[in-house]
Amino acid sequence: MCGIVGVVGNSNATDILIQGLEKLEYRGYDSAGIFVANAGDASLVKSVGRIADLSAKIDENVQGTAGIGHTRWATHGKPTENNAHPHRSETGRFVLVHNGVIENYLEIKENYLEGHHLLGQTDTEIAVHLIGKFVEEEGLSVLEAFKKALHIIEGSYAFALLDSENPDLIYVAKNKSPLLVGLGEGYNMVCSDAMAMIRETNQFMEIHDKELVLVAKDSIEVQDYEGNPVERESYTAELDLSDIGKGTYPYYMLKEIDEQPTVMRKLIQAYTDENNQVVVDPEIIKAVQEADRLYILAAGTSYHAGFATKRMLEELTDTPVELGISSEWGYKMPLLSKKPMFILISQSGETADSRQVLVKANAMGIPSLTVTNVPGSTLSREASYTMLLHAGPEIAVASTKAYTAQIATLAFLAKAVGQANGNEAAKNFDLVHELSIVAQNIESTLSEKDLIDDKVRGLLETTRNAFYIGRGQDYYVAMEASLKLKEISYIQCEGFAAGELKHGTISLIEDGTPVIALLSSDEVLASHTRGNISEVIARGAKVLTIVEENVAKEDDDIVLTQVHPYLSPISMVVPTQLIAYFATLHRGLDVDKPRNLAKSVTVE
Ligand code: M6R
Repeated sequence: MCGIVGVVGNSNATDILIQGLEKLEYRGYDSAGIFVANAGDASLVKSVGRIADLSAKIDENVQGTAGIGHTRWATHGKPTENNAHPHRSETGRFVLVHNGVIENYLEIKENYLEGHHLLGQTDTEIAVHLIGKFVEEEGLSVLEAFKKALHIIEGSYAFALLDSENPDLIYVAKNKSPLLVGLGEGYNMVCSDAMAMIRETNQFMEIHDKELVLVAKDSIEVQDYEGNPVERESYTAELDLSDIGKGTYPYYMLKEIDEQPTVMRKLIQAYTDENNQVVVDPEIIKAVQEADRLYILAAGTSYHAGFATKRMLEELTDTPVELGISSEWGYKMPLLSKKPMFILISQSGETADSRQVLVKANAMGIPSLTVTNVPGSTLSREASYTMLLHAGPEIAVASTKAYTAQIATLAFLAKAVGQANGNEAAKNFDLVHELSIVAQNIESTLSEKDLIDDKVRGLLETTRNAFYIGRGQDYYVAMEASLKLKEISYIQCEGFAAGELKHGTISLIEDGTPVIALLSSDEVLASHTRGNISEVIARGAKVLTIVEENVAKEDDDIVLTQVHPYLSPISMVVPTQLIAYFATLHRGLDVDKPRNLAKSVTVE
């Protein structure tokens, strides 16, 4: 989704902005731009397409000591140069970048901007015209004008504003969209994502909603919209540059798939003590014990991870678990139990749909736990409790290691709560041992990449559609596997409960339709799925099977070592991640940057 970078007090502003924007590329965007200024000199450069296209337009004259840059993922208006950020005020003096959606932008245009000449269709251009008007037509100071505009603007935003006549200060404000201050030596920065700045610094300062920050080269001043000063400490981000590089990998997705055994082991370290006993914050355990129902809210892959943990959470904590799609619940909460607890699963911790649910839950006084990969993210800050995924930055749009880490993290929660409750199954569930087996199992799957690549070539290279089928937990993995395949390879793929095929979907099976069947260790479910496999073969389907060894037959395609049933979604999903990866490669597509998608979805 859109990204913001800004810097003040550094004569390399252009390079810092471009390198920062490159680090934000993974979030997804369709145009980009920078504005840089010195006292008396300024340049605005914008381009549709990649950062490389923007860089190609920048010559040695585009220099400054301060600047703001942006990657845009179109919401209002097509991806054109005029709609790309930064945007300028009517006279060109003020320059603004913005993430989010200004809900009342048309009203603002109608009520305040008569006679103004707008170059594009964006809500952002209206905001900068409004600020410019308050300074140049009403005589307010820049700070007063910014504040006045912030009182009028409704919606979600992260703003970074530069006054080209005084480019020694960046005016910053946020509401619902992420934004951070980065502290350099002798200069300071702003960014929507710490990764954009990690080359320059690992010292950051949070900005909370409805705060305004004045970022100068040697000072940071935080205040609320009424002008009251706010004290804020900086913190050190636990990220380093090597975490966000591709190393020798051709794509981030492959690197992240390969990192999964390490992530499993890191989770064991993070959630156990020196005696190998599971350790989870006692406050979190208590909150779960007090709940009469757990509600898991999430989007996309994180929602699928919720399904994959439902049975384990219910059986080990003796508490019913209900799943909800954040974008649905954000608008309409269903009837809740008397003592609900919300668990928000989110790799980024910034997904706007999930945040909308959390805001409502907080207003209703419902305790909440965020399970996220990003410490200090919005969902982490605003929930009652946080459990971290310890997966390291996930850059590829297609989520892989976060999904498996989400299941493993929730396994630690289920085990800890169950044990505290005296649940027999929880006591007997040797999670550390079982997760170590899973890590080894993933390693063997990863050593079979060539086999998987071969199978995919014949099956998915040219097909228009495909199906994943499975029963029980395999059905949940089928949902995730099909999302992975469709989002990057553009193959229309659905994940089905195998038993449902005959109730409609089987009519789509024709000669050569690829069907990938998942059969983990439950013998009864596997034998029923075998029946469904025969039904689709009889109608011409080309079938590929992924099975656990105890239910394997001679002609199965991918055979995995059996793992504990609670953890089978982790090991079953890995071959499907590789299937999506190779199918996308064979179709000549960009694995890491699928069309129309963004890594962190910060609009509702
Ligand atoms: O950051 P989140 O986990 O909240 O993101 C949720 C979804 O946007 C995300 O999982 C998305 O579905 C991925 N592209 C899937 O690979």
